[in-house]
Amino acid sequence: MPQTSQGVRGILSNPFIYSFFQLLMGAHKLRQNFVETLVKPFEGMKVLDVGCGPADILAYFPTVEYWGFDISKAYINQAQSRFCNRGRFQCKQLQHTDLPKLPAYDVVLALGLLHHLDDSVAIEIMQIASNALKEGGRLLTIDPCLDPSQNRIARFLVCKDRGRNVRDKDGYESLAKTVFESPRIEVRQQKWIPYTHCFIECRK
Ligand SMILES: C[S@@+](CC[C@H](N)C(=O)[O-])C[C@H]1O[C@@H](n2cnc3c(N)ncnc32)[C@H](O)[C@@H]1O
Repeated sequence: MPQTSQGVRGILSNPFIYSFFQLLMGAHKLRQNFVETLVKPFEGMKVLDVGCGPADILAYFPTVEYWGFDISKAYINQAQSRFCNRGRFQCKQLQHTDLPKLPAYDVVLALGLLHHLDDSVAIEIMQIASNALKEGGRLLTIDPCLDPSQNRIARFLVCKDRGRNVRDKDGYESLAKTVFESPRIEVRQQKWIPYTHCFIECRK
């Protein structure tokens, strides 16, 4: 996986430390706002989460049907023990060949995933997401973003990310446009702790 796991960043592969670090970085408010304003969940919504990690986002949902895929066994084990039968978790890289065994989804999430992937793998994941969606369903992504107007602390933190493929708005947009017709891209500056995120919403 194209990510740095040396030094301090290596300890983030521990799911407890990863989740705690995310909270320190302001993830609680970010997730709450994301679910309320962008996901807009409803009971029974079918959600596929690619690169789900420990599936912390699931705590922000009402009763939905949730499938989480991740390549980290430690993260998937943590998701499984925390959420039990609230979700179905699989430790594997989602492939096109998995889709016939899965339902059609209202929403596919890829949160903090694209910046770990080079362009060809990121486009492949977006194609799988598109095929997994119902007609009218949406792919939603969030990633750290480089931006000329960002605060210096935000730029420093974004540059220190484990992912080796952090992009600017145009970079994320051109990925999404390879697969989806009219992706909606938004860059948001978080005030505290200073950070910059790129949100993408693509409708099938
Ligand atoms: C920054 S973490 C984000 C985790 C979670 N989505 C969140 O928001 O907290 C990125 C995750 O992507 C996973 N990952 C990286 N490449 C992947 C791939 N090709 N397929 C599935 N998961 C992948 C990593 O194991 C890691 O859990």
